Amino acid sequence: MSQNVLILGAPGAGKGTQSARIAEEFDVEHVTTGDALRANKHMETEHGTPASFMDEGELVPDPVVNEIVRAALSEADGFVLDGYPRNLSQAEYLDDITDLDVVLYLDVDEDELVNRLTGRRLDPETGDIYHVEYNPPESEEVEERLVQREDDTEETVRERLRVYRENTRPVIDHYEERGDLVRIDGEQTPDEVWEDIRETIENEA
Ligand code: AP5
Repeated sequence: MSQNVLILGAPGAGKGTQSARIAEEFDVEHVTTGDALRANKHMETEHGTPASFMDEGELVPDPVVNEIVRAALSEADGFVLDGYPRNLSQAEYLDDITDLDVVLYLDVDEDELVNRLTGRRLDPETGDIYHVEYNPPESEEVEERLVQREDDTEETVRERLRVYRENTRPVIDHYEERGDLVRIDGEQTPDEVWEDIRETIENEA
C-alpha cells in the first residue's frame, strides 16, 4: 500500500537528503515546494515572482504554494512531502486536501544548521546533494560542476532560520499536540538518520 509521508524540519535539517531515499525505497513521489518554486522562480504571479521572496529567505505567499501542492498531491500515488506546510494556514489547508500516514520531524541544533547550509553544494546534472566537509563527491569531475544555492549565503540562511522559528515551529507543535509527530535525531550520520526513518515508516504502515 502506498504511503503518504510528511517530513518536517528546519532549513538544512536533511529533509531533501532523506526524502530522496524515502521516495526510492517506498516508491512514492517526492513533492518538494522548494524545488518546484526554484523551477518557476521567475514566473510572474499576481503576488510577484517566487524569486523576489526566496532570495531574501522569506516565505512565498500561501496561494502560490498551496496550488503547487494541491496539484502535485492530486497526481501522486503515495508521496513524501518536503518543505510544506511552513505556517499554520498551510497546515490547515493540507489537513483539508489529504490524509497523512506518517509525520517525521528531523531535530537538529541551530549552529549545525548554519554549517550544513553554507557548506551545501548541488550537482545540477543529477540533483544530488553534497557538503564540502560532511559529504564531498568522490570524483573530481563531479566536484568541478557543483554549485551553491543562491539562498545558502550566511546572511540569507540566518533570515531563513528566523522565518522558520516564527512561522514553522508552530506547525511542529500542531502535529505534536495531535500526537502524530515522530521525532528523529537529525544530528546522526545520514545513514543512521535513514535507518530510524525507514524503521518508523515500516512500523507505521
Ligand atoms: P526549501 O528548498 O524547502 O529549503 P529549506 O526548507 O530551507 O530546506 P533545505 O532544502 O535548505 O534543507 P534540507 O532540510 O532539505 O537539507 P539538505 O538535505 O539539503 O525552501 C527554499 C525557499 O523556498 C524558502 O526559503 C521559501 O522562500 C520558499 N518556500 C519553499 N516552500 C515554501 C512554502 N511551503 N511556503 C512558502 N515558501 C516556501 O541538507 C543540508 C546539508 O546538510 C547538505 O549539504 C547535506 O549534504 C548535509 N547533510 C544532510 N544530512 C546530514 C547529516 N545527517 N549529517 C551531516 N550533514 C548532513
